[in-house]
Amino acid sequence: MNIAVIGATGVVGKQCLQLLDAGALPGVERVIPVASGRSAGRDLTAEYGLDLKVEPVVALADFDPAAADLAGLDLAIFSAGAPISLELGPKVAAAGALVVDNSSAFRMEDDVPLVVPQVNPHTMATRPARGIASVPNCSTIQLVRALHPLRALGNLERLVVASYQAASGGGLRGLEELASTSREVLDGGEPAETPSRFGRTLAFNLVPEIGLRDDAGISHEEHKLRREPRKILDLPALRVAATAVRVPVVNGHSEAVHITFDRPVTAADALDALRAAPGVRAYGEDEGYPRPRQVCSSVESSSLVHVGRIRADLDDPCSLLLWVVADNLMVGAALTAVEIARLATESTWM
Ligand SMILES: NC(=O)c1ccc[n+]([C@@H]2O[C@H](COP(=O)([O-])OP(=O)(O)OC[C@H]3O[C@@H](n4cnc5c(N)ncnc54)[C@H](OP(=O)(O)O)[C@@H]3O)[C@@H](O)[C@H]2O)c1
Repeated sequence: MNIAVIGATGVVGKQCLQLLDAGALPGVERVIPVASGRSAGRDLTAEYGLDLKVEPVVALADFDPAAADLAGLDLAIFSAGAPISLELGPKVAAAGALVVDNSSAFRMEDDVPLVVPQVNPHTMATRPARGIASVPNCSTIQLVRALHPLRALGNLERLVVASYQAASGGGLRGLEELASTSREVLDGGEPAETPSRFGRTLAFNLVPEIGLRDDAGISHEEHKLRREPRKILDLPALRVAATAVRVPVVNGHSEAVHITFDRPVTAADALDALRAAPGVRAYGEDEGYPRPRQVCSSVESSSLVHVGRIRADLDDPCSLLLWVVADNLMVGAALTAVEIARLATESTWM
């Protein structure tokens, strides 16, 4: 496999390289990291402490998928933002590589599969028409991975979700901003409400707006939580109401989820269904509950979707409440991207 990682110096790109280093994809021969001109020539093998030999970082402006030395490129994992995916993704796909895109650029396009390998792996049974597969939004992935096993209990009719999203969702710049503004507050200062990665200063605070709001007052992130599960679960009529909140947690997104089914359900049956689901760790009432710092504390834990506080809605026998936590950089991006690529390598078409 010859692989390009676009956005290799970012928080998601780094996780992708670490997963490749750990052997997540078979037969990796060549890894080409791509980033901005600022990062050209960086030695990520040394910086990230990898055993896998990664080439020096190539500046995006010098990365030409039609060039002869890239003729054998099999796979490109994009984690550099939607504008770069929109511009370069189709060119890389046209040159013959499979594009697995972590950005929002193509997610809702009809001819691009929106893939969660634990939920809709059949969408990768044939080569995607445009050679592009999209990785859903981080908050969507953990949500649908918790919902999918529960479909055995009844048809999903309505979701009400509040997300508590970590600063690493804002990339390296978001992490740096949370650290510097937190330090300023601890030193007795008050950070100025200057243009921020999170819209408003996040340190010791909550920001109930992720992405721009539309005329109806719905934020970009809330629209993703509404539209993407419908496509992945193939439930176009699923009713979803979301509130997306940025919280001063370094890593790990959490979600409070209220689910209404078309029939009565019990918390005990939900716990059994979630316990039987691969890639999910379900917590009974006597087993505590997941918290983002603990969830993100090891590779094993970061690879799972954690579901706790599974309980009945005492006022509606058809509804349940859950608390869902996952590592947004792993489950929410890099691991899912690599798992999508692995689905492709295991198929007959790649
Ligand atoms: N963070 C998350 O939790 C998460 C989850 C799911 C999906 N995603 C998606 O993954 C993508 C990357 O997010 P991130 O959080 O990893 O961001 P990040 O830490 O800010 O990293 C961005 C990466 O893109 C590169 N880049 C930025 N502008 C560039 C340009 N003009 N030309 C070439 N390279 C450029 C950066 O290179 P330099 O270092 O050289 O600037 C860096 O490698 C985004 O599309 C994001 O929506 C992120």
